[in-house]
Amino acid sequence: MIPHLSERALILAPLGRDADVAAAMLAEARFNTLACRSIEHLVEEMNKGAGFAVIAEEALHTANLAPLAAWISAQPEWSDFPFILLTLRGGGLERNPAARRYLDTLGNVTFLERPFHPTTLLSLARSARRGRQRQYDARARLEELHALAADLEQRVEQRTAERQAALEQLHEAQKLETLGQLTGGVAHDFNNLLTPILGALDLLQRKTEGADSRTGRWIANALQSGERAKTLVQRLLGFARRQELRSGPLDVASLVNGMRDLISSSVGSTIELQLNCSADLPPALADPNQLELAILNLCVNARDAMPDGGLLMIVIEPVQLAPGSEPRLAPGLYVRLSVTDTGTGMDSQTLARAVEPFFSTKEVGRGTGLGLSMVHGLMAQLGGAFLLSSVEGEGTRADLYLHATDALPDVSAACEDDDLLPAQPLTVLVVDDEPLVRRGIGEMLRNLGHNVIEADGGAAALGMVAALPDIDVVVTDYKMPRMDGAEFARRVRETRPGMPILLISGYTGTAGPVQGLPRLNKPFGLAELAGALRRVVEQPDVESPHQPARVAEQPVFDEV
Ligand SMILES: Nc1ncnc2c1ncn2[C@@H]1O[C@H](COP(=O)(O)OP(=O)(O)OP(=O)(O)O)[C@@H](O)[C@H]1O
Ligand SMILES: [Mg+2]
Repeated sequence: MIPHLSERALILAPLGRDADVAAAMLAEARFNTLACRSIEHLVEEMNKGAGFAVIAEEALHTANLAPLAAWISAQPEWSDFPFILLTLRGGGLERNPAARRYLDTLGNVTFLERPFHPTTLLSLARSARRGRQRQYDARARLEELHALAADLEQRVEQRTAERQAALEQLHEAQKLETLGQLTGGVAHDFNNLLTPILGALDLLQRKTEGADSRTGRWIANALQSGERAKTLVQRLLGFARRQELRSGPLDVASLVNGMRDLISSSVGSTIELQLNCSADLPPALADPNQLELAILNLCVNARDAMPDGGLLMIVIEPVQLAPGSEPRLAPGLYVRLSVTDTGTGMDSQTLARAVEPFFSTKEVGRGTGLGLSMVHGLMAQLGGAFLLSSVEGEGTRADLYLHATDALPDVSAACEDDDLLPAQPLTVLVVDDEPLVRRGIGEMLRNLGHNVIEADGGAAALGMVAALPDIDVVVTDYKMPRMDGAEFARRVRETRPGMPILLISGYTGTAGPVQGLPRLNKPFGLAELAGALRRVVEQPDVESPHQPARVAEQPVFDEV
């Protein structure tokens, strides 16, 4: 319907002068009028839009009324088009059977007997137009209602889907929880039994060393099976969240970097390994040994999914979780470690079951089906999250979300196996207000082959950093009078943003201002000091010695 036509008066009075007279009267009263030639023409104009129609009775006598009747019965629910029928003299309803027929056909019709007074026609025309206007109002309200109903329907559908998804998630979580309790109990008892078995076998092996080689082989076989059983039980305990975790602030980037060789050799040379680590990575709360195991499980899965080679990518980056976002964890800062492969991927059924304990698509004897169960359990125990997504034929991505923390990572834990001697001698500035301790550390560093400069406090040390460009690394005490290690480190980074700094501390709490600074807890041995120093120097967000400084806060992706 064309809006500006919606109030006009259509006139059908093809014989005599009635059309002209009616049109003139209506036009004088400022009606927009149009005279129609025939029923067909009238219907055509009604389709474009009109407020009402004035029809002379004789125009209907011999005409085919079908198109008009069809138009009237096809009106939408809000419409009841008004007609004014000009009857012939003495053609009132009671004496005119034809007029009654028109009443049935036209529906909303008012009869006006000729000759009529202009005022009567105008008053009927105005009331017809008002009636039509009310129909238009009703149409607008109906349209509003329809829109609201559609919106409501859509919202109901959305809510239902959300509820369904939440229920499915809950069901899945409950299923895993029950399985966890069941397997946890068994694994716990089994673990207890394994301890004396393995202990006894170990003793037997030592006792029979050099004796009959067949006995030796049997014992070795038994020990090997026992060790495998131990691994299995550990995974089960991991899934059941009964693992004894030694969680603490952890530099995940260094941990993964340290695993590079292990991962490479585990996945083989046909798989390209890429490690990317965000430069502004905060320490995460995790148990290093268990996290290593989890990462290794994910990498081995990726390898198995890429028998013909492919790309294995590990990305570590900080993510800020907003309320209500996936995964459903408390809002805040997290460290996300993603392991992505370009392997076979999983269909939706496999993906849905992948985390279930003992679910494996690998041939009997090759997969325990406990790898992902362990990862899932560990992440739950750490209060983080594990998300698995996969596209069949394209690959799989596993995301581990770990809580970020302000506390300092302890670099002493993972240093036991490090080689003592450095790849190259470094110039180390040792800062400690206690002469005995300072000299002790200096002595150890000299023993390790490094050059040592000593300072008895932050102020003196800052002067040395400014004056001596060949200082490669700073080892500083945390608790010092006037300027503590955190403040000192911050000020060193102002002039030398990439300077590797190792904090020596007996203090185990948090230290906000030096977020992310590696720490070595007292007491420590030579090996721990050597390892910690090497880690600090090799850290990805730290410049290698003697290179131009760059802004440390820059969010660059770097190879770990
Ligand atoms: N990266 C991946 N790509 C494709 N499928 C995977 C991937 N990771 C896991 N799966 C599927 O999930 C199943 C379960 O994995 P999970 O690590 O729990 O056990 P597994 O690998 O079969 O056994 P195990 O870990 O003892 O070797 C796998 O058998 C495999 O079907
Ligand atoms: Mg596996």
